[in-house]
Amino acid sequence: MDRIRIVGGRNLNGTIPISGAKNATLPLMIASLLTEQTLILDNVPRLADVALLERILGNHGVDIMVSGKRSGETADHGQTLHISASRIVDTTAPYELVSKMRASFWVLAPLVARMGEARVSMPGGCAIGTRPVDLLIMAIAQLGAEIEIESGYVVARAPHGLRGAEIVFPKVTVGGTHTAMMAASLARGTTVIENAAREPEVADVADCLNKMGARISGAGSKQIVIEGVAKLDGARHAVLPDRIETGTYAMATAMAGGDVLLQNARPELLQAALDVLVRTGVTVTPTNQGIRIARNGVSHGLAPVDVTTAPFPEFPTDLQAQLMALMTRARGTSHITETIFENRFMHVGELTRLGARIHLDGERATIEGVPQLKGAPVMATDLRASVSLVIAALAAEGETIVNRVYHLDRGFERLEEKLGRCGAAIERLSG
Ligand code: EPZ
Repeated sequence: MDRIRIVGGRNLNGTIPISGAKNATLPLMIASLLTEQTLILDNVPRLADVALLERILGNHGVDIMVSGKRSGETADHGQTLHISASRIVDTTAPYELVSKMRASFWVLAPLVARMGEARVSMPGGCAIGTRPVDLLIMAIAQLGAEIEIESGYVVARAPHGLRGAEIVFPKVTVGGTHTAMMAASLARGTTVIENAAREPEVADVADCLNKMGARISGAGSKQIVIEGVAKLDGARHAVLPDRIETGTYAMATAMAGGDVLLQNARPELLQAALDVLVRTGVTVTPTNQGIRIARNGVSHGLAPVDVTTAPFPEFPTDLQAQLMALMTRARGTSHITETIFENRFMHVGELTRLGARIHLDGERATIEGVPQLKGAPVMATDLRASVSLVIAALAAEGETIVNRVYHLDRGFERLEEKLGRCGAAIERLSG
């Protein structure tokens, strides 16, 4: 079980290349099931979740070829995947795979839209919550599929194809919006999605589907309109930069102090988070190469903030743990309210081991800034919680060992290399 060792107290200076977005890559790979032709994806990050989804798609008969490095290409360039679902040999997504990577449940939409049937394991819960999929099932049913739940599997049938519908989501759901959009692309007639998720990854997937011949308008807004088409073709699409990785390294720089260029980052993908960082006293400068983050000297320290997570374009839940780590060193008391997931404070206990003072009251956390954190062995519990421990460790006195870093590898490509190149004392301990 790999661990990461960090000795705190070093500033971060230099450039961090931002990889392609994990939460766009996963649905984009799944969209390949909608066509018999080849979908080429550029700027794909090298992540454990991507590798696992490659295995899951292989189970359905999808061939995936990874392009070799082109001349002059470094590891900072994303990989290119050639994904061909010319023949789908199995429309079942088994529990042992879906339970490892929840987003694989999203294969339900393209399988039932293209094959007229799908048998997909319910993903079950995870560390941050029960993660129900009732709204994803509702969307497929409203598009005309017959749904049965059989021993933990969702069995969907649409032997005569799907038909357009008006789908109104009672709450914003990213997975539900992806599901409805992909299924509706091949439905007969028009589908209108109301209260759609506005996350940039939804717009990125819509952009790719349109390149494949879909007719989608309004992605990125609350209302998405899809004119179904008979079939989709192959296309080539570059994954947009990862806004959560961008926000994470911005907060790491704010915590450690220093001056870092987040290369290829795009401010409009995380403006609410950047606005919060400015309120803490960090300098945020968009440039034509990305976003420059600077906090020099600890003299003026970090100002406390009050933040509530909410769907895009508000402050993202996937940056909540990282902001909490940053606020452990603020000059005063901050409040963070988590409104998306019911159990997304697993990092609090571990941050407390580093000397943080955090009080929980239901979905609201009160963080009383302390002058100094002290290194200690800590345990990662889920993807974003684990990186909040890295952020805290960068400013903690002495050595911190982060255990169970496989959580980190799911969503952060070459984290210790990217931070190490900017001066952090960080190394991976294998075994
Ligand atoms: C996506 O998960 C992301 N995952 C999550 O990122 C992210 O935290 C989340 O959206 C919110 O932005 C991927 O894109 C792969 P939701 P998703 O459906 O689609 C409830 C990370 O760290 N809900 O938007 O599963 C749900 O319980 C991950 O990269 C239902 O009630 O999230 C939650 O309270 C973590 N019924 C809320 O909606 C449903 O059928 C939002 O969930 C579906 C969701």
